[in-house]
Amino acid sequence: MDHTQTRAAPWIRIREAPAHVGEQVEIRGWVTHRRSSGKVQFLVLRDGSGEVQCVAGVKDLPAGQWEGSAALGQEAAVIARGTVKADPRQKGGVEIGLTDLEIVSLAPDYPVGPKEHGVDFLMDHRHLWLRSPRQQAILRIRAQIVAAFREFMDAEGFVLVDAPIFTPSACEGTTTLFETNYFDDRAYLSQSGQLYMEAAAMALGRVYCLGPAFRAEKSKTRRHLIEFWMMEPEWAWATLDDVIALEERLLVATVARVLERCGEELKVVERDTSKLERLQAPFPRIHYNDAVKLLHEAGMPFEWGGDFGAPDETELASRHDAPLFVTHYPAAVKAFYMEPDPADPRLSLSCDCLAPEGYGEIIGGGQRMASLELLTRRIDEHGLPQSAFEWYKDLRRYGSVPHSGFGIGVERTLAWIAGLEHVRESAAFARMLYRLTP
Ligand code: 4AD
Ligand code: MG
Repeated sequence: MDHTQTRAAPWIRIREAPAHVGEQVEIRGWVTHRRSSGKVQFLVLRDGSGEVQCVAGVKDLPAGQWEGSAALGQEAAVIARGTVKADPRQKGGVEIGLTDLEIVSLAPDYPVGPKEHGVDFLMDHRHLWLRSPRQQAILRIRAQIVAAFREFMDAEGFVLVDAPIFTPSACEGTTTLFETNYFDDRAYLSQSGQLYMEAAAMALGRVYCLGPAFRAEKSKTRRHLIEFWMMEPEWAWATLDDVIALEERLLVATVARVLERCGEELKVVERDTSKLERLQAPFPRIHYNDAVKLLHEAGMPFEWGGDFGAPDETELASRHDAPLFVTHYPAAVKAFYMEPDPADPRLSLSCDCLAPEGYGEIIGGGQRMASLELLTRRIDEHGLPQSAFEWYKDLRRYGSVPHSGFGIGVERTLAWIAGLEHVRESAAFARMLYRLTP
């Protein structure tokens, strides 16, 4: 065996190996498992792009390397060199005939094995748990969802505008604000970039932001994160109906992209994709009043005027395979900036999108309040300081036009598309009520 030649092999990613059958290659990765019959050993490596089996007979490797490989356990890091061989029995259709194996580092007693672990243990070891095939798949699907969001909005002519994280005031309710010191003043971590997007929409017409949002509710539900990512489009001249149609197109495009690019990943997370494959516009819509009637017919104890809880949302959404738009919520259960419904001023021109299969609200949005006078009153009613909103009220003082927008949560959308039982798996390092580490 000519080892000098082997050492010069080009570094490729495992995903690319099928294109190199018959060639010498170098793979840099981590051991997922190793077994040995004494004379032949099998080493399965992963490098983040895929997994490949490497095979070596006792004579294929220099003696020292053969002996050294006995120490290789799960997550040891190696540089493996050898020849790519077609093997239809293997995942990806290839295996590597090893001729050179460099040990880069060992991982003795790696704590996250393939055996079952409890959720707390896994979350404590999230920095390592990320290496498991399921978590890798989820992160890849997430990246495709974010890419789909951006590609879609850009194609629709919306301009990305980044909103600040430090903000002087509440946007989505005063009880859920994270307070921080801001030199001699106080600042809050942003609950939403919306108000800033309203300003930017009056400059650019169609804008969106995509970034983190923070909510300090002491909620422990499987849909709630303390820190989550949200995309918020804002559209000058648009009505409630315009943004609902935009939401519909966005969701269809996002699901299509994930189905197209993440087939393998969806298998790894064991998602039944049949309902996603059938997804097409238009999605069902229901008026708040009719939704309340439906809940009553289903025997649910719900009082008109209230907000829907998770069981109500599940009841409403589970009647459909596609997401459900619920429109015209009572103004009292929504944020201060919602435009009243001219047909019934107790209601608002708002819309939530409820994902099917019990995943709950993934989008909230609507038409923004036009009247300066009513806006001023609502800011008072919500116990918010007028002074912090003078700039926002300027948007109604100078060239105000009807406008609408929405916010879509990345993690909840991912939970739905990937079929995750809990949002904790939908962020690389989820921030939850009792979870700040790692
Ligand atoms: O309904 P929300 O609170 O709406 C807003 O923040 C508006 N300012 C958006 C707008 O009109 N520009 O949040 C919108 C979406 C929810 O539907 C949900 O997907 C996600 O953001 N979200 C959360 N995701 C995870 N954990 C939380 N605590 C979330 N709160 C909201
Ligand atoms: Mg909401």
